[in-house]
Amino acid sequence: MIKLTVINRLLVAAAALVLSSAAVAAPGQLGAESSMSPAAVKERIKPVGSVCVQGEECKPVGLAAQPLAGASAGPRTGEQVYNAVCTACHSIGVAGAPKVGDKADWSPRIAQGEKILIQHALNGFTGKKGQMPAKGGCAACSDEEIANGVKYMAGKAK
Ligand code: HEC
Repeated sequence: MIKLTVINRLLVAAAALVLSSAAVAAPGQLGAESSMSPAAVKERIKPVGSVCVQGEECKPVGLAAQPLAGASAGPRTGEQVYNAVCTACHSIGVAGAPKVGDKADWSPRIAQGEKILIQHALNGFTGKKGQMPAKGGCAACSDEEIANGVKYMAGKAK
């Protein structure tokens, strides 16, 4: 009987642990399988495609809408911009975005020349695979920062 009670207590404690960690992990935590699954990300960023008109400024979305840390400290590096904005689509290839480091997808794009790549990132671009929103949806990013992001991603595919 005593043994049973101990086991019961352990079970209750284990259940409480599981419940509390589930609650902590739930809301939009990066890396959590469910919230970063291609379907979930695609769903979250869906409005980007519909509100972005080429040549016009996109409505900022999600992460991209927040001024990035260190905004006052001069232009961010390509890596910083990538991690704050571009990774949302380019890390796992959401909505047809060429995955960072995917040489087969990037090499014909890189072959267009850096100027064109940067233009496409700045102004938005609709290709065979999908739609790249202007500035990746980051209205707060400067042109220079977007160019840095492009160079960073292109560099990863070489
Ligand atoms: C909402 C998703 C999304 C975000 C965020 C995003 N991209 Fe893209 N990007 C795409 C898609 C989709 C394509 C591919 C379009 C095609 O080829 O059909 C693309 C293509 C590109 C290309 C290739 C253009 C070409 O000429 O082939 C570059 C360069 C690029 N993105 C840069 C960036 C940079 C830099 C950022 C971050 C500032 C960024 N992207 C953020 C979706 C995104």
